[in-house]
Amino acid sequence: MTTEIRKIDGESLRLAASVIKGGGLVAFPTETVYGLGANAFDSDAVGSIFRAKGRPSDNPLIVHVHADYDIGGLVYDEFEYVKRLRAAFVPGPLTLVYRSRGAVSPLVSCGLDTLAVRVPSDKNAAMFLREVNLPIAAPSANASKHISPVTAQHVYEDMNGKIPLILDGGRCTGGIESTVLDVTTETPRILRSGLITCEMIESVAGRCEYAQHREGDKVRSPGVKYKHYSPKCPTKMYGRNELEAAVADYKSALKRGLSPIFVCDDFAAEELKGYRCIPIGKTSLQHASALYDALHRAESEANYIIGISLEGDSQIEVGVMNRFAKACAEDVK
Ligand code: TXA
Ligand code: MG
Repeated sequence: MTTEIRKIDGESLRLAASVIKGGGLVAFPTETVYGLGANAFDSDAVGSIFRAKGRPSDNPLIVHVHADYDIGGLVYDEFEYVKRLRAAFVPGPLTLVYRSRGAVSPLVSCGLDTLAVRVPSDKNAAMFLREVNLPIAAPSANASKHISPVTAQHVYEDMNGKIPLILDGGRCTGGIESTVLDVTTETPRILRSGLITCEMIESVAGRCEYAQHREGDKVRSPGVKYKHYSPKCPTKMYGRNELEAAVADYKSALKRGLSPIFVCDDFAAEELKGYRCIPIGKTSLQHASALYDALHRAESEANYIIGISLEGDSQIEVGVMNRFAKACAEDVK
């Protein structure tokens, strides 16, 4: 199958809607990362998402809808605080995990009795979702375990030949995936950190906690247990106070004929002058926005990536460092 990349306009949106209604897959931009979408009511289409990504069949998908789509037919709304959260953060990079009514394909939630729903704020995503007017199941549009895509070209590199259409809306500005929040309990629980932080949720809902993984617990968000966000070359991560060891590693890699590169914040980059380096900004928001693009660049320009822990200025850093540490992990986690 040939994969077309089309700028977003009336014609490409109509084409996208007809691909989706015909059971096909369409990659589309959001404010976080590109998604790989299918009609959530169509089990064949949802199944083909897992095949195109090589995604484990126990890792559930988020359903995306436009702001006026009535999700009352999809999920149960149980707690009063959820309305306040929606008023404050939806549309936006917040995914809410509700108890499901079982209306969409059972493949979406991989047999869980919950359903994750997100309303993207990106205007291109909103136009696409309005045009199809269906709940769209969509994971990030990368091959499973690879770095998430923030440009149409990143999607193309992983999905060429596997999907018919990529809607090109330019680079995603948010940069890391949405916060995934379980709202099936009295206290909302963060299953995956993102741009909507625990503090922000607490300020609206009155309380918020991080899901703790305890041995023997049923995994509430299966996606968090896999190796993720990984470049195709070897990687390593150093703390901010280990710059000397990181430089020694860089030099020894050069001697072994490798082509190393640092990915770090602007402050570490100052101290690493003279070495190849991709700086990703000063603030946590800048780090989030630049991280995946930097990792994509690093894997195309070098063959050994050395990450240096980022120093942030907000709780957003929790989500950024979670991705960065997984991307630069040496072993499968
Ligand atoms: O920003 C985002 O969330 C992007 C864009 C495309 O919207 N999507 C995304 O999807 O990151 P994906 O599939 O790469 O990650 C979905 C995460 C996984 O960690 C998955 O386990 C969790 O959401 N998830 C989905 N449905 C769930 C459910 N019913 N219960 C718990 N976790 C769920
Ligand atoms: Mg993903």
